[in-house]
Amino acid sequence: MSPVRLHPDIAQVLYTPEQIQARVKELARQISTDYEGREPHLVCVLRGAVIFAADLLRRLEVPATIDFIAVSSYGNGAESSGIVRIEKDLQDRIEGRPVILVEDIIDSGLTLAYVTGLLEDRRVASLDVCAFLHKPEARKTDQEVRYLGFAVPNTFVVGYGLDYAQRYRGLPYVGVLRSDVYGGG
Ligand code: IMP
Ligand code: MG
Repeated sequence: MSPVRLHPDIAQVLYTPEQIQARVKELARQISTDYEGREPHLVCVLRGAVIFAADLLRRLEVPATIDFIAVSSYGNGAESSGIVRIEKDLQDRIEGRPVILVEDIIDSGLTLAYVTGLLEDRRVASLDVCAFLHKPEARKTDQEVRYLGFAVPNTFVVGYGLDYAQRYRGLPYVGVLRSDVYGGG
């Protein structure tokens, strides 16, 4: 691992900065091949996906544009309810465009299901999903995710854009948060 200092609230590093950059490069290459001759429009879901989307965009070998959407999940805290509200909508129209939804993490998949439904309603030309992380054990939906970075265990992870109470987004690695920090078991 590179000489990054481990944050005292992190129990374990799952993916190092080097592993992350290598995987982002692979994903960007794959997307560039699949989208050759087209200009994908990245829809980055704020705030967690912002670092991943920025790295991905820089690695793409096809021209691409980017826009941002922010959503919040209703309900009781940690558990996703699947009822999602738009906090900040896209700036540009997406009708007729090839869209790639860029997400930080797919946990239950309920947020993803809602956001993809919303984008499809706007009659995009095509829609693919690119998620940095996913939790296979927590998944409740069977939506196709074409581009996936890494799988993580069913535990709370932070870093590389992902937060707990808005903290830890700037960590250059993905780590497991110490359970005593978030009051878990
Ligand atoms: P879902 O609707 O259950 O798939 O939840 C997805 C959203 O919950 C993600 O976009 C994150 O904002 C948040 N989330 C889920 N698991 C984690 C985690 O381990 N760390 C940080 N955020 C998470
Ligand atoms: Mg999020």
